[in-house]
This record gives sequence, C-alpha cells and structure tokens, in this order.
Amino acid sequence: MGFIFNNLFRRKSVSAITDDGGHSAGLHRVLTVRDLTFFGIAAIIGAGSFSSIGSACFSGGPAVVFLFIICAVACGFTAMCYADFATRVPASGSAYTYAYVSFGELAAWIIGWALLMEYSIGNIYVAFSWSGYFVNLIESVGLHIPAWLTNNYSDAHQAFNNGLTSKLSNAWITAPIIAGVRFIIDLPAIMINILVTWLVYVGTKESRNVSNVMVIVKLAIIFLVIIVGASYVDIDNWTPFMPNQFSGVMAGVSGVFFAYIGFDAVSTLAEESKNPQRDLPRGMIYSLIICTVVFIILALVLTGMVSYTTLNVSDPLAEVFALKGIKWMLFIVSIAAVVAMTSVILVFQMGQPRIWMAMSRDGLLPKKFAEIHPKYKTPGFSTIITGLVVGIPIFFVTPKFVLDFTSIGTLFAFVLVCAGVLILPRNMDAKEKGKFKMPYVNSKYIVPSITIVSLIVIFYNHASMILNEDGSCNFPMIVFYLVWITIAIFSYIKNFSLIPVLGLLSCCYLLTGMGWTNWIMFSVWLVIGLVVYFLYGYKKSKLA
Ligand code: ALA
Repeated sequence: MGFIFNNLFRRKSVSAITDDGGHSAGLHRVLTVRDLTFFGIAAIIGAGSFSSIGSACFSGGPAVVFLFIICAVACGFTAMCYADFATRVPASGSAYTYAYVSFGELAAWIIGWALLMEYSIGNIYVAFSWSGYFVNLIESVGLHIPAWLTNNYSDAHQAFNNGLTSKLSNAWITAPIIAGVRFIIDLPAIMINILVTWLVYVGTKESRNVSNVMVIVKLAIIFLVIIVGASYVDIDNWTPFMPNQFSGVMAGVSGVFFAYIGFDAVSTLAEESKNPQRDLPRGMIYSLIICTVVFIILALVLTGMVSYTTLNVSDPLAEVFALKGIKWMLFIVSIAAVVAMTSVILVFQMGQPRIWMAMSRDGLLPKKFAEIHPKYKTPGFSTIITGLVVGIPIFFVTPKFVLDFTSIGTLFAFVLVCAGVLILPRNMDAKEKGKFKMPYVNSKYIVPSITIVSLIVIFYNHASMILNEDGSCNFPMIVFYLVWITIAIFSYIKNFSLIPVLGLLSCCYLLTGMGWTNWIMFSVWLVIGLVVYFLYGYKKSKLA
C-alpha cells in the first residue's frame, strides 16, 4: 500500500526533464520574444472578447470591469508562477511538466488531463463562436448557408422545444431527416478545425507567420472598434453601475476568465523558442498586460454604447454596432472576430500536442504521441489526434457546456501551478542577466494580517458573504474562507513567497464563481482521468 502511495508521488527531477526534453526533441527553435508575445495575444483575444463578454456584461452590468480586473490580477500572479517554472524547467509540457517536478506523477497526470479541457475543449467553444461570426460575414456579402449547417444539434432542439423563433429553431424545422434523425451540424466550425489542424501539422514556422499577421489584423481592428465605439458612449448607460450586485458580476466568471486563457499557452513552446528562459516569461507577461488593457476598455465601451441588458447575445461586438445602425462596422467586426478566433484555435491546437508529447515521453501516454514528423518537425500524430478531439464533439456538445468546462479545468490547473511554485525549494540562485526570477517577498506577516483584517471587515459588513440571496448557505464561499485561512497559517509557518500565494488565493476565489453542475462535471472528468492513469500511465511510466 505504502509502495503504491509512494509511486503516485514519484517526481521527475528538473535536470532529468531539461536533459531529455530540452535537447533531444528535434523541434525547430525559431521563436523570439516578439513571436511569443504575439502568440500570447493570438491565444488570448478571441471568443472571450467577441462572444462570452456579452453575457458577462449582461449579468454584471458595467461593473463587469471589476471582474476583468480580478481575473487580470489572478492571471497576472499565475503568469509570474508560470514564468518562474518556465525558467527553471524550459521544456514543453507547460503546467503538466511543472506539476511533475513539484507534486509528482499523479498530480502531473491530473494537470495534463485538466489541460486537455483548456486547449482542446476550449477550442470547441472558439470554433462555435468562429462559426457564428463567419456566417455573419458571408451573409453580409450576400451568401447564405442553411441554418441546419451552421448550428449545433442540442441548441437547435432546445430552441425548438422552447417555442423560440430564431435561427436555431429554424435549423430544427428546416433540417433534412436522415434515418429518422434531424441532420444538424455546425459545418464552418468543423471546417476551421480541419484547416488549422493541417496548418499546425505542416510546421511551426508557417503557423508562426500566419499567427503574427492575424495578431496585427485583430489588434488594429479592435482599436478601430474602441475608437469608433467610444464616440457613441453615453455615460448614462453606466448607471446603474452594478445592477445585479456583486453576485451578478461573479456570474460572468466563466466567460471573463475564458477571455484571459491563453497566456499560459506560450509556455508550451519552450522547445521552439530561441531563448526560453528569457523569452517565455516576457512573452507571457507582455501579452497579458496588453490584453488586460484592451479588455477593460472594450468592456467600458460596450456597456457605455448600449444598455447592458441588450448584450446577452453571442456576437455582442456586432450587436452594439447593429443597434447603433453603423452597418459598415458590422462587416469589419466580423472580419476581426474571424481572424482573432482563428489565431486562438491555431495556438491552442499547437499547445495540446506539445503537452501530449511531454506526457508520452514520460511514458504516461503511448510513444506514438511523442513522434516528430521527419519532414515538418512537428508532433504529427498528436496534432491529428488533437484535431479529432476538437472536431468530433462539435457534433454533440453546446457552446455553454464547453465554456464552463474549459474555465473550471483551466482554473484548476492554475491553482496547481501556483501551489507548485510554493512547494519547490526556493530559487536561491543569483539573478542572471536577462533571465526571469520571481521576486521573493516574504508573506509571513503580510498574508495573515491581510487575512485577519479582510475577514473581520467582510463579516462585519456583509454577513451575506456566506449566505446566498435566498438565505441559504454559500458553500463555495465558506470553503474558500477555510482555504484562505489555511494558506495564511502556512504562509506564517513556511515563509511562503507572496506572489504565488496571491495567485493561489485569487484563482481559488474565482473558482467560487463556478456552479454546482460545473463541479460535478469536472469531478466526473477527473475520475475518468484517474481510471485511464491507473490502467495505463501508472504501469508504463518511465519512473515505474
Ligand atoms: N482567451 C481565448 C479566447 O477568448 C481562449 O478565445
């Protein structure tokens, strides 16, 4: 029993990872700090900024900017932790690899399994959103694709059952029936997945060039949207600022957090960057800062142009211009959205195979997953499997389902990365020029003092912080307070570094915004992951 237990926590040493991962993979080292920053922006600005921001504005009102700030803080601290790891362990695999050296094999597997949600399942949401804007775009030039070829089956069925008259119910009504089943698929979502899979398969350099161009186009158009939109802002729309209290703001967590996901994808490119220890941290942090500024301004412009109540649509950026009657902007916004989301799909589709490659090298997945294509120098087999993992569910799932699933899985991975930095021995090396080093600030007194003061203020002013509006117990918040107090105690005892502690706390706080159903789905997913691990990875691990 003790033997099995020890095996679950067997760890890889940093030197073992850098020796086998860092030098023998045969990937092309072509990426510079500018490319990595662009990759970060390519991964961050996408469906979150063009789609899910709408429902977050709707539930939180203009005060949704607070949620953007909270998520930026959580992601900022987490990015520093990723950066710290990326400097110590400059190998592909991102959080998976980092967990392997800090927590051991079982946690590493769980992270790898959770990251599958971020990259592959996240891409399903982006592909759906891409399809929505793509259809807008081609309709604006007079082309039409039947509704049953541009929507997903479940949503169409539900819209019909609810008696709604919309494109969705129209898809249900007009769909051909094959063998007794209505044929409804989101063809553009499937096509973009195939196209990007092919691009990623044929090369990193090609993907980089395409991605850099797309980033420039999307940033330019987003600036235009902000500038044109700003001239239509009516500050009366910002009152009331927080119409649905803070719980309304927090209801948008999945959507807003999703908008930020992606900076961490930069860390999967360690083996393709020219100087990963210097450039990965910079790429992550620069891209996060640029995107945070863009998001906050964008949220203020959207909620300033129209009433937040009109924003609960899948294409809010197009909607605001439609409501203002600015037709020419609709076309431009649709182009920006299509370009932005293509680049997100591209980066995530590059990230996933590299994580699998790292897992396969460790024996946790079959060898095939680490195979490098002899001509294109990309992880060819893993890339194709990623295409299938993204493509097949497009036939069955709904965007809302995958959005929630992605956000909870990614937050979970972020929590483990921040905690992992705390567990690793502190990096005592002197700071080398150009190499990132996490600044160490002792949290011994800071975190316990902040905890005591905050908890007193919170309970004194808002007993409701532990109660829901209907008077029932707010269970996730209570768990969060307990976690907070525990972390404060450990900070005191262990002299933890402040930045990862703040990252850990802010990510745990965001997790309180996830509903029960998300937690249940996530738990089922983890159990499936554990079964797979014990059937395969546990026995085949190189550390076995
Ligand atoms: N942040 C990425 C997006 O919004 C995942 O599409």
